Amino acid sequence: MSQITVIGTGYVGLVTGSCLSDFGHRIICVDNDEDKVRRLQNGEVPIYEPGLEAIVERNTYYNRLNFTTDTAEAVRSSEVIFIAVGTPPADDGSADLQYVEAVARDIGRAMDGYRVIVDKSTVPIGTGRRVQGWVREELDKRGVSFEFDVVSNPEFLREGNAIQDFTHPDRVVVGSDSERARDVMRQVYRVLYLNETPFIETNIETAEMIKYAANAFLALKITFINETANLCEKVGANVQDVARAMGRDGRISPKFLHAGPGYGGSCFPKDTRALAEIGRAAGARLHLIEQTVESNERQKKLTAAKVRTVLSAAGRKSGDAKAGTDSAANSSGGAQGPDAAGDLAGMTIAVLGLAFKPNTDDMRESPAITIMTELAAAGAHFRAYDPEAMEEAAWRLEHIKEHVAFTADEYEAMDGADAVLILTEWNQFRNLDLERVKKLLKAPYFFDLRNIYNRPMLEELGFIYTGVGV
Ligand SMILES: NC(=O)c1ccc[n+]([C@@H]2O[C@H](COP(=O)([O-])OP(=O)(O)OC[C@H]3O[C@@H](n4cnc5c(N)ncnc54)[C@H](O)[C@@H]3O)[C@@H](O)[C@H]2O)c1
Repeated sequence: MSQITVIGTGYVGLVTGSCLSDFGHRIICVDNDEDKVRRLQNGEVPIYEPGLEAIVERNTYYNRLNFTTDTAEAVRSSEVIFIAVGTPPADDGSADLQYVEAVARDIGRAMDGYRVIVDKSTVPIGTGRRVQGWVREELDKRGVSFEFDVVSNPEFLREGNAIQDFTHPDRVVVGSDSERARDVMRQVYRVLYLNETPFIETNIETAEMIKYAANAFLALKITFINETANLCEKVGANVQDVARAMGRDGRISPKFLHAGPGYGGSCFPKDTRALAEIGRAAGARLHLIEQTVESNERQKKLTAAKVRTVLSAAGRKSGDAKAGTDSAANSSGGAQGPDAAGDLAGMTIAVLGLAFKPNTDDMRESPAITIMTELAAAGAHFRAYDPEAMEEAAWRLEHIKEHVAFTADEYEAMDGADAVLILTEWNQFRNLDLERVKKLLKAPYFFDLRNIYNRPMLEELGFIYTGVGV
């Protein structure tokens, strides 16, 4: 197979390009971000993803993996072209296709023979047909006619586990109307094909739908357990045990049944909103998904309100017997309760974890942003630490920068703080030296928003523990 081009060298494009080069293909990764391409050409991997750097280094060394800003040249040199640019949400929640369109048109302007154009970005159902139209329009403008096929090949990788997910996928979905293109795709994924990875071949629309349906279902599952956790808190049940018992049921599975502060990241929030919008536009509303979107937003706010309630009560404790309860968590909907803004003034909260999940530096739609913003509005200050996400946090939290100090490690964050808030379950936070934590904290408030500690154990050590539904 001749060279393969991947346009868009972000999370998905870089993982796709480097893993395909590891499968033995010659890959050219294109990006219009000159600085990113320069860094990659100099051997610097701009994102944190375990295992990625070694793969990039190895394949660059063997000249199987190259980086460029020259889209036209890359299009001319490859029969297969992946589109892996971003599809961020537009104002109405629908997916913004401007980057996909720009690339499709670039391809139409440059191609000089048969091409398989593979859409790897997550795109609304019907986008494959639109890509065909955009490419054809550009060919018509040039007065030329070349054959091409559009394929939908959605990506299911999880950040933090991307290499394993790409090289050992549960399935590869290939949506196309063309046997010729399907055959090319079998060559692209030959290594997986030989390993008997299930290949699901469908039409383009079905492949596009599969991606949204899968993500929406996972988001819904998380939301279900979050709401269940909120109820558990009210009725004295333990959501961890509920989830464990539910998960033993093979029809349910234990995955994505971990209660927490709400899902974030670059995919679930935008894909659920986009799918809800697609349903509305198509006249087949997805009420469950609309509710999921709403409930997740509420969960982040409820979490902030819960922390605020406990800490403002703690702040008043000496003079005011009005002890904290969790009730505001279910009624105030955020930092607008009866307490004036500023009831956390003078308090410093240690925040452990900022990324939307462990093993990534990605903070897109991280619950940390909403929760810290809400608490900052109540006057709280933060000493924050994340093993990888602090560079990104510096600009994502720019709007509350007067409230945030970053520290060199988790213990420095807790030194002299009034409470600790675990927001991301990095492994290094799972095994804290609790005696040391106790000594470092000014007050023993321990908010375990990922349920990685055991309440009785923490309480025995003298912590005032708050988990999620436990
Ligand atoms: N991040 C994930 O975990 C994940 C998983 C599965 C699917 N997806 C989907 O994959 C797509 C890409 O996501 P991502 O997280 O990799 O995005 P990203 O923002 O990390 O990367 C997109 C890249 O495309 C580049 N780009 C934009 N326009 C370009 C153009 N005209 N020419 C060349 N390069 C251009 C940008 O500079 C950027 O580097 C999205 O549709 C996303 O929903 C993401």
